[in-house]
Amino acid sequence: MLRKIGVIGGGNIGGVLVQEIVRRRLAREVGLVDPAPFVNPNDPEDRQATTRKQTIAGGKCLDIAEGTPVLRSDVLCYGSKDYSAIKDAELIINTAGVPRKARPDGTFPSREELLTINLKVTNQVAAGISEQCPDATVISIANPLDAIVYTLDKRLNPSKNKLMGMAGVLDSARYCYFVAEAANVSVENVNAMVLGGHGDSMVPVRSSCLIAGIPVEKFIDAEKLAAIETRTRKAGGEVVGLLGIGSAFASPAWCALEMAEAIIFDKRKIIPVSAKLEGEYGFEGVFVGVPAIVGANGVEEIIELDLTDHEREAFGKSVAAVRNTCNSVEEMLANL
Ligand code: 2OP
Repeated sequence: MLRKIGVIGGGNIGGVLVQEIVRRRLAREVGLVDPAPFVNPNDPEDRQATTRKQTIAGGKCLDIAEGTPVLRSDVLCYGSKDYSAIKDAELIINTAGVPRKARPDGTFPSREELLTINLKVTNQVAAGISEQCPDATVISIANPLDAIVYTLDKRLNPSKNKLMGMAGVLDSARYCYFVAEAANVSVENVNAMVLGGHGDSMVPVRSSCLIAGIPVEKFIDAEKLAAIETRTRKAGGEVVGLLGIGSAFASPAWCALEMAEAIIFDKRKIIPVSAKLEGEYGFEGVFVGVPAIVGANGVEEIIELDLTDHEREAFGKSVAAVRNTCNSVEEMLANL
């Protein structure tokens, strides 16, 4: 159990995170920060005064805290509009930013199209972390995932092990789920990893996909596997299209907690995380999904897989796509 976990962003993912941290008793305290609702300067003064007193983070946390006697959980849970709620947190999970949302015609933006708005939010997030808990280990979930982690790295300059993004766990869980469904076996039997950036170029690594330790090809033919891998690459969008009002939240929160528990319980678990490459896989200075040993020190070690030629080429293309978004980050940061 940690002394304190801070959650940034009180939307759907943040809400599930706080509930689960309380239910799983992962820390003595959990603090949630979200600046909403925002005061509209065009509103009449009495409306502005009411909005000033409202706090989504405070409301969500009070709701959860009032249920703790039923859960028999003594985890303290509180929220605020300013960053004081995350003061002295040892672990931060950052969810702050706008999610993808379906347009009236049913189409939806790419994760990269969220960059302009979410970069500004990330600047505030970095300032809040620097002020309240500069030594915290940070797991970030906001999109575009790898570029937002890159931005946090630029702003916070932490040691390499203390900053990581959550995407590979989710993309891999989706791949495993689709494979289990197609093979008609338990999800517990399927192991697989998705690497690269958290975008359409992500790389489901078929050579890592095993069912009870047996290569997946023994159960599912190549054509069906290719269709599953295409569905995996677009799985986040599939949920956005169905929901209509936002993006996936339960599975992303659980996947971030898979990483958090590896850190909290010093599991040294091998999981795919967006980590800074410094020569690994032949790349430098870019955050992208790779398998890593995650333990008490965060990213303890990046594991270099023996990818097939096809997988290596796809991984390179995915890194190039992430770099492209990071170049936009550089331009935008210069103009902020
Ligand atoms: C997803 O893939 C939210 O990016 C997240 O659903």
